[in-house]
Amino acid sequence: MITDFSTLNESKKYSIMSNTIFPRPIAWITTEDEGIVNLAPFSYFAPLSSEPPLVIVSIGHKENGEPKDTLANIMKSGVCTINFAHKELLEELKNSAEALPKDESECEKFNIKAKKVLEIFPPMVADAKCALFCEYVKSVDIGSRFEPIILKINHIYIADENIDEKNHIHLENIGRVGMEYLIDSTRVK
Ligand SMILES: Cc1cc2nc3c(=O)[nH]c(=O)nc-3n(C[C@H](O)[C@H](O)[C@H](O)COP(=O)(O)O)c2cc1C
Repeated sequence: MITDFSTLNESKKYSIMSNTIFPRPIAWITTEDEGIVNLAPFSYFAPLSSEPPLVIVSIGHKENGEPKDTLANIMKSGVCTINFAHKELLEELKNSAEALPKDESECEKFNIKAKKVLEIFPPMVADAKCALFCEYVKSVDIGSRFEPIILKINHIYIADENIDEKNHIHLENIGRVGMEYLIDSTRVK
Protein backbone atom coordinates (compact mmCIF):
# COMPACT_ATOMS: atom_id res chain seq x y z
CA MET A 1 0.00 0.00 0.00
CA ILE A 2 1.29 3.45 -0.88
CA THR A 3 -0.20 6.42 0.94
CA ASP A 4 0.07 9.98 -0.31
CA PHE A 5 0.94 12.06 2.77
CA SER A 6 -0.67 15.14 1.26
CA THR A 7 -4.10 13.46 1.65
CA LEU A 8 -3.71 12.92 5.42
CA ASN A 9 -4.60 15.18 8.35
CA GLU A 10 -2.00 15.93 11.02
CA SER A 11 -3.08 13.27 13.50
CA LYS A 12 -3.01 10.54 10.84
CA LYS A 13 0.46 11.65 9.75
CA TYR A 14 1.58 11.59 13.38
CA SER A 15 0.09 8.15 13.90
CA ILE A 16 1.80 6.68 10.84
CA MET A 17 5.16 8.33 11.51
CA SER A 18 5.23 7.43 15.18
CA ASN A 19 4.28 3.79 14.51
CA THR A 20 6.86 3.31 11.77
CA ILE A 21 9.83 5.43 12.80
CA PHE A 22 10.44 3.56 16.04
CA PRO A 23 11.63 3.06 18.66
CA ARG A 24 12.37 6.73 19.10
CA PRO A 25 14.63 7.80 21.93
CA ILE A 26 13.09 10.18 24.43
CA ALA A 27 14.92 13.36 25.40
CA TRP A 28 13.74 13.97 28.96
CA ILE A 29 14.81 17.56 29.22
CA THR A 30 15.55 19.61 32.32
CA THR A 31 15.79 23.38 32.00
CA GLU A 32 15.86 26.16 34.57
CA ASP A 33 14.40 29.61 34.85
CA GLU A 34 14.56 31.81 37.94
CA GLY A 35 15.40 28.81 40.11
CA ILE A 36 12.44 26.72 38.85
CA VAL A 37 13.45 23.37 37.35
CA ASN A 38 11.30 22.36 34.38
CA LEU A 39 11.18 18.75 33.16
CA ALA A 40 9.41 17.34 30.08
CA PRO A 41 9.80 14.47 27.56
CA PHE A 42 10.36 14.94 23.80
CA SER A 43 10.53 12.10 21.28
CA TYR A 44 11.11 14.15 18.14
CA PHE A 45 14.73 13.64 19.06
CA ALA A 46 17.72 12.32 17.07
CA PRO A 47 21.52 12.45 16.84
CA LEU A 48 22.81 14.55 13.94
CA SER A 49 26.59 14.19 13.95
CA SER A 50 29.45 13.10 16.20
CA GLU A 51 31.91 15.83 15.14
CA PRO A 52 30.69 18.23 16.27
CA PRO A 53 28.52 16.17 18.65
CA LEU A 54 25.03 17.40 17.79
CA VAL A 55 21.46 16.30 18.49
CA ILE A 56 18.16 17.74 17.31
CA VAL A 57 14.94 18.07 19.32
CA SER A 58 11.71 19.38 17.85
CA ILE A 59 9.65 21.28 20.39
CA GLY A 60 6.12 22.51 19.73
CA HIS A 61 4.33 25.61 20.87
CA LYS A 62 1.48 25.67 23.38
CA GLU A 63 -2.13 26.02 22.22
CA ASN A 64 -1.95 29.75 22.96
CA GLY A 65 0.98 30.02 20.53
CA GLU A 66 3.62 30.61 23.20
CA PRO A 67 6.70 28.35 23.14
CA LYS A 68 6.56 25.40 25.51
CA ASP A 69 8.40 26.10 28.76
CA THR A 70 11.34 23.90 27.75
CA LEU A 71 11.85 25.86 24.53
CA ALA A 72 11.43 29.24 26.23
CA ASN A 73 13.96 28.28 28.90
CA ILE A 74 16.53 27.00 26.37
CA MET A 75 16.18 30.18 24.32
CA LYS A 76 16.72 32.27 27.44
CA SER A 77 19.53 30.32 29.10
CA GLY A 78 21.20 28.70 26.06
CA VAL A 79 21.54 25.37 27.86
CA CYS A 80 19.63 22.23 28.79
CA THR A 81 20.20 18.76 30.21
CA ILE A 82 18.85 15.73 28.33
CA ASN A 83 18.16 12.79 30.65
CA PHE A 84 17.48 9.22 29.54
CA ALA A 85 14.79 7.29 31.42
CA HIS A 86 14.88 3.58 32.27
CA LYS A 87 11.83 1.51 33.19
CA GLU A 88 11.81 2.42 36.90
CA LEU A 89 11.33 6.06 35.84
CA LEU A 90 8.37 5.48 33.47
CA GLU A 91 5.69 6.91 35.77
CA GLU A 92 7.80 9.99 36.50
CA LEU A 93 8.43 10.49 32.78
CA LYS A 94 4.72 10.28 31.96
CA ASN A 95 3.78 12.63 34.80
CA SER A 96 6.32 15.19 33.68
CA ALA A 97 4.53 15.60 30.31
CA GLU A 98 1.70 17.47 32.06
CA ALA A 99 1.49 21.11 30.97
CA LEU A 100 2.01 23.00 34.22
CA PRO A 101 2.10 26.78 34.62
CA LYS A 102 5.61 28.08 33.93
CA ASP A 103 6.24 28.93 37.58
CA GLU A 104 5.50 25.37 38.71
CA SER A 105 8.21 22.69 38.63
CA GLU A 106 7.37 19.16 37.39
CA CYS A 107 10.20 17.91 39.63
CA GLU A 108 8.56 19.37 42.73
CA LYS A 109 4.98 18.51 41.81
CA PHE A 110 5.75 14.87 40.93
CA ASN A 111 8.53 14.39 43.45
CA ILE A 112 11.24 13.71 40.88
CA LYS A 113 14.63 14.27 42.44
CA ALA A 114 17.02 16.45 40.44
CA LYS A 115 20.70 16.96 41.26
CA LYS A 116 23.09 19.68 40.16
CA VAL A 117 26.15 18.14 38.53
CA LEU A 118 27.70 20.91 36.47
CA GLU A 119 27.36 24.53 37.53
CA ILE A 120 26.22 26.09 34.26
CA PHE A 121 23.81 23.31 33.22
CA PRO A 122 20.37 22.54 34.64
CA PRO A 123 20.29 19.69 37.16
CA MET A 124 19.92 16.12 35.89
CA VAL A 125 17.25 13.69 37.05
CA ALA A 126 19.01 12.16 40.05
CA ASP A 127 18.03 8.56 39.23
CA ALA A 128 18.84 8.73 35.50
CA LYS A 129 21.75 6.55 34.37
CA CYS A 130 22.78 8.91 31.60
CA ALA A 131 22.44 12.62 30.82
CA LEU A 132 23.74 14.96 28.13
CA PHE A 133 24.65 18.51 29.11
CA CYS A 134 23.96 20.57 26.02
CA GLU A 135 24.25 24.07 24.67
CA TYR A 136 21.90 25.64 22.12
CA VAL A 137 23.34 26.01 18.60
CA LYS A 138 20.50 27.07 16.31
CA SER A 139 16.82 26.68 15.42
CA VAL A 140 15.54 25.46 12.09
CA ASP A 141 12.56 27.36 10.71
CA ILE A 142 10.21 24.77 9.20
CA GLY A 143 7.20 27.06 9.07
CA SER A 144 5.36 24.94 11.62
CA ARG A 145 4.20 25.05 15.23
CA PHE A 146 7.20 22.78 15.84
CA GLU A 147 10.61 24.33 16.29
CA PRO A 148 13.50 21.94 15.76
CA ILE A 149 16.54 23.04 17.72
CA ILE A 150 20.10 21.83 17.31
CA LEU A 151 22.05 21.26 20.51
CA LYS A 152 25.73 20.53 21.04
CA ILE A 153 26.70 17.96 23.65
CA ASN A 154 29.14 19.58 26.03
CA HIS A 155 29.44 16.88 28.70
CA ILE A 156 27.90 13.46 29.28
CA TYR A 157 27.14 11.64 32.52
CA ILE A 158 27.03 7.83 32.51
CA ALA A 159 26.59 5.97 35.80
CA ASP A 160 29.70 3.94 36.62
CA GLU A 161 27.65 0.74 36.97
CA ASN A 162 26.53 1.13 33.33
CA ILE A 163 30.09 1.03 31.98
CA ASP A 164 31.85 -2.36 31.90
CA GLU A 165 35.55 -3.14 32.29
CA LYS A 166 36.00 -2.88 28.50
CA ASN A 167 34.52 0.62 28.64
CA HIS A 168 31.34 -0.49 26.85
CA ILE A 169 28.17 1.37 27.79
CA HIS A 170 25.04 -0.59 28.75
CA LEU A 171 21.82 1.42 29.03
CA GLU A 172 18.19 0.32 28.93
CA ASN A 173 16.47 3.49 27.81
CA ILE A 174 12.70 3.66 27.41
CA GLY A 175 11.71 4.17 23.76
CA ARG A 176 8.58 5.64 22.21
CA VAL A 177 6.37 3.66 19.78
CA GLY A 178 3.20 5.38 18.61
CA MET A 179 1.54 6.55 21.82
CA GLU A 180 3.11 3.69 23.78
CA TYR A 181 6.53 3.00 25.27
CA LEU A 182 9.05 0.29 24.49
CA ILE A 183 10.60 -1.38 27.51
CA ASP A 184 12.72 -4.56 27.20
CA SER A 185 11.32 -5.02 23.65
CA THR A 186 7.72 -4.97 24.96
CA ARG A 187 5.17 -2.27 24.18
CA VAL A 188 3.50 -0.77 27.26
CA LYS A 189 0.88 1.96 27.68
C1 LIG B 1 6.77 10.43 25.42
C2 LIG B 1 6.42 11.84 25.03
C3 LIG B 1 7.07 12.42 23.97
C4 LIG B 1 6.80 13.75 23.62
N1 LIG B 1 7.46 14.31 22.57
C5 LIG B 1 7.25 15.61 22.25
C6 LIG B 1 8.00 16.22 21.20
O1 LIG B 1 8.86 15.62 20.56
N2 LIG B 1 7.77 17.55 20.94
C7 LIG B 1 6.84 18.26 21.65
O2 LIG B 1 6.68 19.46 21.40
N3 LIG B 1 6.12 17.70 22.66
C8 LIG B 1 6.31 16.40 22.98
N4 LIG B 1 5.61 15.83 24.02
C9 LIG B 1 4.69 16.67 24.80
C10 LIG B 1 5.45 17.50 25.86
O3 LIG B 1 6.17 16.66 26.75
C11 LIG B 1 4.43 18.34 26.67
O4 LIG B 1 3.83 19.27 25.78
C12 LIG B 1 4.99 19.05 27.88
O5 LIG B 1 3.92 19.56 28.65
C13 LIG B 1 5.91 20.20 27.54
O6 LIG B 1 6.31 20.77 28.76
P1 LIG B 1 6.95 22.19 28.94
O7 LIG B 1 5.90 23.23 28.57
O8 LIG B 1 7.27 22.20 30.40
O9 LIG B 1 8.14 22.26 28.06
C14 LIG B 1 5.83 14.49 24.35
C15 LIG B 1 5.14 13.87 25.41
C16 LIG B 1 5.43 12.55 25.74
C17 LIG B 1 4.69 11.91 26.88
